[in-house]
Amino acid sequence: MADILDWTNAHLDTLDTALYEKRADEMAVRLQQETGAGKLPFLTMPYAAQLRKDLDGLKDFLRKFDHMLLLGIGGSALGARALQKAFYPRQDQPGHDGPSLWIADNVDTYALEAYLAKLPPKKTVVVTVSKSGGTIETVGQYFILKEWMKGHLGDDWHRNMLLVTDEEQGFLRGEVNEYGIRALPVPDNLGGRYSVLSAVGLIPALFLGMDVESLMAGAQEVVAPLADPGLTGDTLAGHSAFRLAVWGAALQDKGFAELIFFTYIPLWASFGDWFAQLWAESLGKEGRGSQPVPAVGVTDQHSVNQMFMDGVRNKACLFLTCPNLPAGPKFPTDLPDKFAYVRGKEFGELIQAEGLGTRMALSKSGVPLVEMRLGADSPRQAGKLIGLLGAATILCGWLMGINPLDQPAVELGKRLAKARMDAEGLAEEKADLKSFLNTDRDLREF
Ligand code: PA5
Repeated sequence: MADILDWTNAHLDTLDTALYEKRADEMAVRLQQETGAGKLPFLTMPYAAQLRKDLDGLKDFLRKFDHMLLLGIGGSALGARALQKAFYPRQDQPGHDGPSLWIADNVDTYALEAYLAKLPPKKTVVVTVSKSGGTIETVGQYFILKEWMKGHLGDDWHRNMLLVTDEEQGFLRGEVNEYGIRALPVPDNLGGRYSVLSAVGLIPALFLGMDVESLMAGAQEVVAPLADPGLTGDTLAGHSAFRLAVWGAALQDKGFAELIFFTYIPLWASFGDWFAQLWAESLGKEGRGSQPVPAVGVTDQHSVNQMFMDGVRNKACLFLTCPNLPAGPKFPTDLPDKFAYVRGKEFGELIQAEGLGTRMALSKSGVPLVEMRLGADSPRQAGKLIGLLGAATILCGWLMGINPLDQPAVELGKRLAKARMDAEGLAEEKADLKSFLNTDRDLREF
């Protein structure tokens, strides 16, 4: 069964998409220039061959461990979690006895102490993922785990560590050089939120036994035409990533300030968080962008869907489905009359009916909606989805006239936190902090 985008309810007739569609030639030229200059490894994947070899070389090493503790945040963690939840649900289910992946992507004392107290050091590999190699939330945990490993393994501490970081720069690269810690690179110009199909996401995927090859092949299927040196405006205009980008930009012009990512593949719920970061960090710039809102069917029908249906009319929706989810057990045939409509039917029919109901209801209530209907909930489709949404995000940013590959606004909070911890320099931030904290606060007990 093919993978389909259904545009029937996208409101293409009421949006000014022509404004953006006519820029296909210009965008094709830009793609050619930037892919040719090596600036878009998300599309060209020049690292793929070496990565395959590196992953192959890691297999025996990874087999020695029962646990992987991944230290990383943002783009260094969200893709790995999406893959884990989608393709390795058994860790969250009763009776789990295979490898376990733990993702430490917060500054959470409870979680960290549980890892330190309960993980068996000899059977645990600590994978620290940071492109910059200096993110304090990640490197801070690395410092603590390094001491923990030293305490348990002595001089062998580095044998249970793996670093994924920039090939040349940053604190973690210095650690690789100093201690000979095993390491894989984050490719040049591949930002965190675009890096799931590099060592960043594929090492944990490999550890859990996923079909890494299909993930990569799926993505390549979608992005390869965009990286083709012979790309024309016409080819680009017909590419689904460009069409989504045009839609995303045109929606904003009409005041659609929120973009729901509603998945009716329950195990794929964490792709909503992955997409939210991708879309928000890439496009939330200069007072522009649309707020991504992850939601999962059917759970959120009984939660936030009321707002989607009848709240502020500023929402559009990407609606993810797969008609080929497992059918599951059958309902008994002797159910009370009130439930006669499910007698003898398969449990899996329910989510398909509810997905259809919600999709129709959203469309009827005026929410512009594109259904992304996957032929299977397999790694190849996940790769295709990652390729499609990543490319659409980059192109949407270009159409909006912003840079989709940076995230300058998140720096201020980080600098202020560092100033609060008395990091060297940062005189201006320290002065700002002082004045913020010395302002009379309006405090009321509740
Ligand atoms: O998408 C991004 O670039 C960010 O979300 C980063 O992934 C995040 O800030 C972590 O950065 P790093 O991998 O350098 O530790």
